[in-house]
Amino acid sequence: MKLNIALLAGDGIGPEVIDQAVKVSDKIAEKFGHEISWTPALTGAAAIDAVGEPYPDSTHAVCEAADAVLFGAIGHPRFDNDPSAKVRPEQGLLKMRQKLGLFANVRPTFTFPSLIDKSPLKRERIEGTDLVFLRELTSGVYFGERGRKDDGNTAYDTMTYTREEIQRLAKKGFELAMTRSKRLCCVDKANVLESSRLWRETVQAMEKEYPEVTVSYEFVDAVAMRLVQWPSDYDVLITENLFGDILTDEASVISGSMGLMPSASVGTDNKLYEPIHGSYPQAAGKDIANPLATVLSAAMMFEDFGLTTEAKAIRDVVNKSLAEGYVTEDLADGAKAFKTSEVGDWLVTNI
Ligand code: IPM
Ligand code: MN
Repeated sequence: MKLNIALLAGDGIGPEVIDQAVKVSDKIAEKFGHEISWTPALTGAAAIDAVGEPYPDSTHAVCEAADAVLFGAIGHPRFDNDPSAKVRPEQGLLKMRQKLGLFANVRPTFTFPSLIDKSPLKRERIEGTDLVFLRELTSGVYFGERGRKDDGNTAYDTMTYTREEIQRLAKKGFELAMTRSKRLCCVDKANVLESSRLWRETVQAMEKEYPEVTVSYEFVDAVAMRLVQWPSDYDVLITENLFGDILTDEASVISGSMGLMPSASVGTDNKLYEPIHGSYPQAAGKDIANPLATVLSAAMMFEDFGLTTEAKAIRDVVNKSLAEGYVTEDLADGAKAFKTSEVGDWLVTNI
């Protein structure tokens, strides 16, 4: 297969972890007879510095022309501490999601047998955890009307959803549930929010199209609690943008390190793969960040192209590196820590 992939390394540790995913993907391509051409493009603070905006049209054109986008991370502390900044790296991410129509963010949480005791939760609570959040990504309070009034002393952000936005996300949830344990949890706040009541009404109306799927409806606050009590109870969860942002960060540490979980953002025409973690500016340029979430994001990309053996080869070599202790400092726990690039090289040699 010939693949044309847009490569958006972004900020902070983005370039370092992306390098490892590229090395691993190229090795997989070589081994299984594929051809990948990578087209780099600017995004985030790096793009602001170069051309004054975080998601330039030239980058959008590269993404649209590609079969998929592999993305590193976005964000820089010099913007976080400046509430008056007119352009922010994160705006680039939101613009990219919207312009590419990436309405469904697929964020899995699973455990690695060799890391079970690195989790902040007890072994018996997390064993067997294998869940997937489908977070709505291009609507809700992130994109609703916002502003200031009363001379700047009152601020508002609005959570708006249309039935159609809920349906297209829920459809992906039902379809995913059909390929797994046929359980779907709709996470909302329907006891308070009107938009959540529309979510519930819409998902309930879709149930009859998927008679084999058992649907549960839970409030977001209860899910936040049950997720750390009994994570293995969950399978596929669907939710709106902000609830999903918060819950998927919570879920991402269950596996033992934030540096492990991959994600995909998909829409009708485009697909983007990225680690769940952020740009980790304190580690930028030090060659210490964990590249595995990005490498596993590349595995999700191969999987979505129907290249399941290739995806499995990546997951297998990642498991092997964890089991044999070829890990970065976040997982080394007193034992020898390897550099980001050393872990990448080890994966390549062992594929
Ligand atoms: C994420 C991030 C982004 C979000 C930020 C950087 C805008 O936290 O991808 O989860 O809130 O969606
Ligand atoms: Mn987030």
